[in-house]
Order: sequence, then C-alpha cells, then structure tokens
Amino acid sequence: MLRVAIDGPGGTGKSTIAKEIAARFGLEYIDTGAMYRSMGLKALRTGVSPADEEAVSEMLKDTTLDFRDNHMYLDGEDVGGLIRTNEISMAASDISKLPCVRAKADELSKYLASTRDVVMEGRDITTVVIPDAEVKIFMTASPEIRAERRYKQLLEAGKPADYDQILEEIQKRDYQDSHRELNPLRQAEDAEFLDTSDLNMEEVVQKVSSIITEKTGAVPAES
Ligand code: DC
Repeated sequence: MLRVAIDGPGGTGKSTIAKEIAARFGLEYIDTGAMYRSMGLKALRTGVSPADEEAVSEMLKDTTLDFRDNHMYLDGEDVGGLIRTNEISMAASDISKLPCVRAKADELSKYLASTRDVVMEGRDITTVVIPDAEVKIFMTASPEIRAERRYKQLLEAGKPADYDQILEEIQKRDYQDSHRELNPLRQAEDAEFLDTSDLNMEEVVQKVSSIITEKTGAVPAES
C-alpha cells in the first residue's frame, strides 16, 4: 500500500501539491477539508448553528458524504463549486470542533484510505486518520506568505481582495484549528516538516516526490 498523508494549516498549497503528487504517482487524491466544508454548508443551508451540538448531530443522521474522482458529494449533490468561499471556510473550521462531525469525516476518510492507495490531506491525517501512513508530511508556510498568495489568486480571478482582511482570517482559522480540544492540527513526531514559504509549486512537488521515493522506493510516472 502507498498512503501519503499531508497535514498543515489552510492556504499552504496542500491541495495543489497533493493533486499533482496523485497524478504523478498514480494515487487517488482525497481532500478531507471538503468533507468539513460540506457539513458546514449543510448547517448554513438548514439554519443549524455549528455551536449547537445536538442539532448538528440530528442533521448528520440524514446526511451522506462521498468523495469520488476529485468531487465532493453532499447528499448526492456535487458541492465542489459551492464550498470554497470564506464563509464556508469559517463554518467548516467552527463545525470541525464537534465530535460527531469529526467522527463522520473520519469514518469516510479511514474507509477510503483502507481501500486504495491515496494521497490524503487535512489537519489530522498524519495523527489520527492514517497514523501508520507510509509517508507523512507536515506542510506549512508563514501566514503572511499564505495571505499574499491568496490575495494574488483573488486579484487574478478578477475578484475583490483585501490583504489585511485575508491575513486576519488566516490567523483566526490557524488559531481555531490548532487550539481545538479534539484532534487539533499538530505535527506528528515522525512527519517530515516542509516549509513552502520560499518555494514554488514545482519545487514543493519535487521535495514531496523525493520524500516518497526515499521512504517507499516508488517513483513518479515521468522519471
Ligand atoms: O483544508 P480546508 O481549508 O479545506 O479545511 C477546512 C476546515 O476543515 C479547516 O479549517 C478545519 C477543518 N478540517 C479539519 O478539522 N480536519 C481535517 N482533516 C481537514 C479539515
């Protein structure tokens, strides 16, 4: 089995890197953040407060999640295009504190990781979901660099962007994700630390590829 687990704060480029690694090594890419985002979306749609654990637990009783071929399905609906907003980022971070929400995402993530070769990214993949993954990476970048990348992305997409506001949101979410009681974001002792602040995408992909080859002997398709 080849399971590559990547954790790190939001906006470090984990998804982009993980998708590229999946393509080069023939692995399935799994975005666990999309699962929390979907549960956040459903709570917002149905007027359930992420702070109301009982109501969220009731909501989850008739909620189905699935992640297939790079698409996130919430109750059978492909919600990929709806879950990338700031509002959903915070709703996902808020709702991810709840044990019933984590259990739901963990169940699907663990099932996927036990039935195929994966590259899976999130906040607790190396520590909780696949602690025995063949390759474990903790990816980070300074909040200022992440805010700058996001700011440029928005401008390039012709969307309004405010650097200070983006930085503030990044710092708030970092704090929440690493200070919650249950399975907070932290570096697993045996995970490789990778700071992407001064690296471009191809450089990060190269570094991750080298780690995979070193740990498992697997080589990317192109080489
Ligand atoms: O990776 P992302 O930005 O799409 O994740 C959205 C939120 O979901 C993040 O702020 C915290 C939560 N999350 C989590 O608690 N555990 C994971 N494995 C993945 C995401």
